[in-house]
Amino acid sequence: MGSKTLFLGARGENKKLFNKLSKIVFNSAIDSRIQYNKSEPSIFENDYFESDNYKKSKGLIIENTKSICNYIKESTQFSSLKYQAHMLDDPLITGYIGTIAGLYYNSNNCTPQASCKSSFIEYAFSNDLCRMVGFDTNKTPDYYNSSKTITLIEKSKKELETVYPFAHSTSGGSISNIEACWSGYWVKFIPVAIKNALLNEDDLNDSKQLKITFPDGKTIKPLIECSNWELSNLNGDLSVKLPYQISLECNLPIENVFEIIKNYHPSSLGAYQFFSKNDIKQPIFLIPSSSHYCFKKAVSLIGFGSDSFKSLFIESNGRMNINDLKRYIKHSIENQIPIINVVSILGTTQEYAVDNLDEIVSIRNQVRRDFNFNFDIHVDAAFGGYSLSCIRDNYQLENPLDNQSLFPNNFKILSNESNDCETFDPELIISSYVKKQLNACKYADTITLDGHKSGYLPFSNSTICFRNSKYKDILTFSRVYVAGGNKNIPNCGVFGIEGSRPGHSSVAGYLTNSIIRPSKTGYGKLLKRCILNAKLFYISLLIKFDGNNNIKVVTIGNNPPNDVLNYLKSEIIDSETGKIKPLNQIASNKTLLQTLSNYGPDLNGVCFGFNFVSPSTGELNNDYQKYVELNKIIIDRFDYVNGPSTDLVIGHTFLNDSYGDEFISNFLFSNELKLNIPRYNKISIPLLRSSTMSPFMGETSEGSYIDTMLNILLKEITKIINSKKIHFENKIVI
Ligand SMILES: Cc1ncc(COP(=O)(O)O)c(C=O)c1O
Repeated sequence: MGSKTLFLGARGENKKLFNKLSKIVFNSAIDSRIQYNKSEPSIFENDYFESDNYKKSKGLIIENTKSICNYIKESTQFSSLKYQAHMLDDPLITGYIGTIAGLYYNSNNCTPQASCKSSFIEYAFSNDLCRMVGFDTNKTPDYYNSSKTITLIEKSKKELETVYPFAHSTSGGSISNIEACWSGYWVKFIPVAIKNALLNEDDLNDSKQLKITFPDGKTIKPLIECSNWELSNLNGDLSVKLPYQISLECNLPIENVFEIIKNYHPSSLGAYQFFSKNDIKQPIFLIPSSSHYCFKKAVSLIGFGSDSFKSLFIESNGRMNINDLKRYIKHSIENQIPIINVVSILGTTQEYAVDNLDEIVSIRNQVRRDFNFNFDIHVDAAFGGYSLSCIRDNYQLENPLDNQSLFPNNFKILSNESNDCETFDPELIISSYVKKQLNACKYADTITLDGHKSGYLPFSNSTICFRNSKYKDILTFSRVYVAGGNKNIPNCGVFGIEGSRPGHSSVAGYLTNSIIRPSKTGYGKLLKRCILNAKLFYISLLIKFDGNNNIKVVTIGNNPPNDVLNYLKSEIIDSETGKIKPLNQIASNKTLLQTLSNYGPDLNGVCFGFNFVSPSTGELNNDYQKYVELNKIIIDRFDYVNGPSTDLVIGHTFLNDSYGDEFISNFLFSNELKLNIPRYNKISIPLLRSSTMSPFMGETSEGSYIDTMLNILLKEITKIINSKKIHFENKIVI
């Protein structure tokens, strides 16, 4: 599969393929109607399509359709290389076509009754993504989401001994993240609810002596003798299997056990009653300040208020400050404050940074072992999740459970292109630090992956993956399992926040995964290019804007020392033309790729700003207010509001004191900003952010588009500085 075949092209160059696929999809949908409804009476009279009424109505529909098309024609074109702002790009052709194919059936994955095919697709698609994460789907029992029936005892026994993943689609990263926080909360307090149920419910008498093992793996105690603090710190995997153990011991259907437990759980009592009755302090969530704002929504929505959202400081390269995390954990252990989730971000919205998940996992192992303390880990990989494809060898796509031969040969789809850009191993351009974090994802409890970001799928396409499928059981307000029988269609809908959910988003993702696998052979080929281009852009910014042309770039990321920068310059820039060398040449140099992997952003985007050299003194500006002013003008110059005529669209952000004093003082110090510094709690640092989402920006017919971007930036920023020359000479005093 040639990766470029998947794109329609900024000028619709691949339109013949798109057209052909659209016709296939349309004809198939019409055929399906004819087959399904062939014996039904028609609502149209024989001469209806000749009638005046029809002709007039048709005219109006066509006219208004043209009007709306004309109106939306001026939307931002994400297919354009000029668009370098938000985390989105032109969706893949298969994404569009899968969406349209699914749309014709308008299925609702809320219930299998309204989605008898797309629910199967959602299940297979979600499982496929679980495998990209590294969750082990091989342990999924054969009765799960299949028509196989087994006895209650067999089911509970199996559930007790296995951990297997579960995932489902949501409409976006925010919803997935909110669901993760919600499940973390409700799972954490299952054991306290069970203790109260065991003490009060005769039906559970046979489990009164239920013993549990603490996170240290050594301490074993009867559950009813444990303190609420101890019970709030059990391993999640243990908490979610306790109901199954009770079901076995008390010979009760699992759904009856949940009904009883829920009477003592926050899901019924609400946070206030539950925590005050059980004398448990208000729990907290530890979330980096660089997080997406949806986490504030999450914590507030599930009833804690933003006081429970503890914002962690950030290091100068945009990653979570692990010392701050340790400080909070220590304080929580000492003061018996439950931590529900530590959130680790794989690709922050503003800096494209990857938090040190590997370290978070090892901290958790340590506090489990030494303090019988526990928290869940959620990875927000809404942006960076699909980069897991860069470290994954190819694997077989699952077929829908009711049609095991839909895509028989998907494993064999291999590229026969032989250029270096296509063939280089994606792992070469991923730093060893990031690789470690990608490999650690399998230890997370929940992870968000957004198809509508780095999956190049149309909105609304996100997936929430649970490492342990039993995490969802407590979330449902419907029965956990539908009894056997041939109606057993995967029911992904009853567990989430949403009710009605479109089947077409899973069809889009599944069709796409059948063509480009979420592995090195598929998505890896797109995302490795994006990461390489982001790093090339970052390094070229450092080279081009080193102060010599009166402009100095300011970056959030990992800057190389001077000798490495010189090496990179010699390998990346053609000394005769001053342009970036052909990407193929760069991609053929393994040493270069490996060196480059350690610098710049962690993933595919760049967060940067500009400072200027004073025209009169020849010295780098050290006035913070002037930095702010210059960058606000630059932000406006490259804003999307300038419409289709704009030559380059770049996003922006403002970083504030929630990142911590250390981040701010580092930023000011490393960029030599000393004058007119406001109080830190008033600081708001303007920066540009450019998501590198166009995989082929380095391989256009005119060479690398990065050169074009650099030239536009140089010309326009020089213009801005010259036009404001006098102003930039004046000191602004606050
Ligand atoms: C890291 C991260 N998480 C979550 C979200 C929220 O995703 P959505 O806009 O799909 O709700 C975003 C959006 O940009 C994001 O960058």
